[in-house]
Amino acid sequence: MIDTTAVVTRRTRVLVADDTESVRALFRKLLAAEGHDVIAVQDGAEALEAVKKHHPDVILLDVSMPQVDGLEVCRRLKADPATRLTPVVLVTGMSDMSDRIKGIEAGADEFLSKPVHPHELRARVASLSRMKHLIDALDSAEAAFMTLALTIEARDPNTNGHCERLARHAVSLGRTLGLPADDLNALHRGGYLHDVGKVGIPDSVLLKPGKLTNEEMDLMRRHPEIGDTLCAPLQSLRHVRPIIIGHHERLDGSGYPAGLKGEDVPLLAQIVGIVDVYDALTSRRPYRGPLSSDEAGRHLLDEMAQGKFARQYVEAFLDVVGASETVPAVH
Ligand SMILES: [Fe+2]
Repeated sequence: MIDTTAVVTRRTRVLVADDTESVRALFRKLLAAEGHDVIAVQDGAEALEAVKKHHPDVILLDVSMPQVDGLEVCRRLKADPATRLTPVVLVTGMSDMSDRIKGIEAGADEFLSKPVHPHELRARVASLSRMKHLIDALDSAEAAFMTLALTIEARDPNTNGHCERLARHAVSLGRTLGLPADDLNALHRGGYLHDVGKVGIPDSVLLKPGKLTNEEMDLMRRHPEIGDTLCAPLQSLRHVRPIIIGHHERLDGSGYPAGLKGEDVPLLAQIVGIVDVYDALTSRRPYRGPLSSDEAGRHLLDEMAQGKFARQYVEAFLDVVGASETVPAVH
């Protein structure tokens, strides 16, 4: 489980953007009395600058401000991956239904009506800041997993840059196949995290230069399940877990850990599986030099012919890496 008790006690940083001095002063007083750090600015452009500089936990935006209004600021924050999870409260006139509708469309999380009631302000900021701290905790847990994955890679000098290349190639293939943004995101994370379970494999096996014994091979083959178990508590990795557990499954049932067949092998796991094999072949190993992209392409085509990989994905991938000349014409 993720422990959020440590982060909820951190002071909440609230950004207030309002062109009326008395409103800014009132918000500052009320929120500071709750123990929050308050940054107050007087227009939308300043608000955007302050978000970049101070990374607030909650943002209160007056709708009507000169130049860049609150709706536009909200829209820009929600369109930016770095700030889209930061809660935004739009402060509107009591009867301004059209502002609220536009606010919903702009992605606002909450609304407050003027004149703002102090209790309502405190309650809204408190609940949104709890939510933001939780999101931050999840984010940092995910960041810790990424670091762990790179640390595992660093244990093995043969795999230098493997995760980064895998993430890049898997996303390129996913894009070529027209997959939606969520899948591309999962492929990117999966590229880094697919072998995170190797943290549970001893160095004597992971780094053994020679051939593995059957027992050692069995141990090595546990890494997808170990990785899946590690990532299971993280809600934000739910789309990545099928890649972690399934990247060594093969369409003909010859893979592991479950020996899945055909359509049962998740699409994203198939993609990472293909890219993983290619990267292993084109990387140096203690017992051989790196294969050229054409040689690796031919090897992938052999495995495809044996029924391990889907033709359309292998061919699309060889196109992506510029090894498509190895694909024989289909008559
Ligand atoms: Fe693996």
